[in-house]
Amino acid sequence: MTLSVSMQRILARTGDGSPTLYVPELNEHYHSIHGAIQESLFVYIDKVLRQIDKPEIRLFETGFGTGLNAFLSCREAEKEKRIICYHSIELYPLSKPEWLEFAKYLKESETDKSFFERIHECTWEKEEQITRFFRLKKIKADLTTYRSPETYDAIFFDAFGPDVQAELWTPEIFRNISEMMNPGAILSTYSSKGQVRRNMQAAGLLVSRIPGPKGKRQILLATKP
Ligand SMILES: C[S@@+](CC[C@H](N)C(=O)[O-])C[C@H]1O[C@@H](n2cnc3c(N)ncnc32)[C@H](O)[C@@H]1O
Repeated sequence: MTLSVSMQRILARTGDGSPTLYVPELNEHYHSIHGAIQESLFVYIDKVLRQIDKPEIRLFETGFGTGLNAFLSCREAEKEKRIICYHSIELYPLSKPEWLEFAKYLKESETDKSFFERIHECTWEKEEQITRFFRLKKIKADLTTYRSPETYDAIFFDAFGPDVQAELWTPEIFRNISEMMNPGAILSTYSSKGQVRRNMQAAGLLVSRIPGPKGKRQILLATKP
């Protein structure tokens, strides 16, 4: 479904107290209503970042959104003193008032909040050093047509759900993503739908269903052979 550039987004609280955004046009939230931070830490930080044994991780995210995954990855990079080079695609960036409002509801320390601000303030289309261990490039583009000249060790596949944006979960999209993955690279997503799993397999990825975070029975993890 093509979204309207001016789509309405309403701030909402999730089960762990952290904020998310609700899109009435899609009847869809940006994160799990059971806990935005809890979901992000489980699906992406724990199942991907913490599984890769490399001094520097190159990562691609589909859907920069509120920047929450990027923020938690930045915090992880600083904590573990491990370099993360984070590239994220987004077709409908939040406005400054929207991300400032979102930030108000983050209960993190002031230092951490300053990472969040830097992540949002940095220029698009240019790789920027956000902190000592975290570099970020925000790419304003459409995932359905984007072709990356670069390859990655990790993919955070965090598009809106396959029931509302099926065009972002097709075999073609996963073929394109697979071409961006280095051998052994890991992709994680919160969806566990059978069709998504089959579309990933059709793109040559090795896929497994694993138990999900609170409120989500299972999620999908895929690796590039
Ligand atoms: C589930 S949200 C991402 C949440 C985000 N990772 C975070 O941490 O807040 C999905 C995102 O995909 C973006 N999106 C929708 N269609 C897109 C497209 N065709 N290309 C790129 N991004 C798209 C939406 O605007 C939204 O920000």
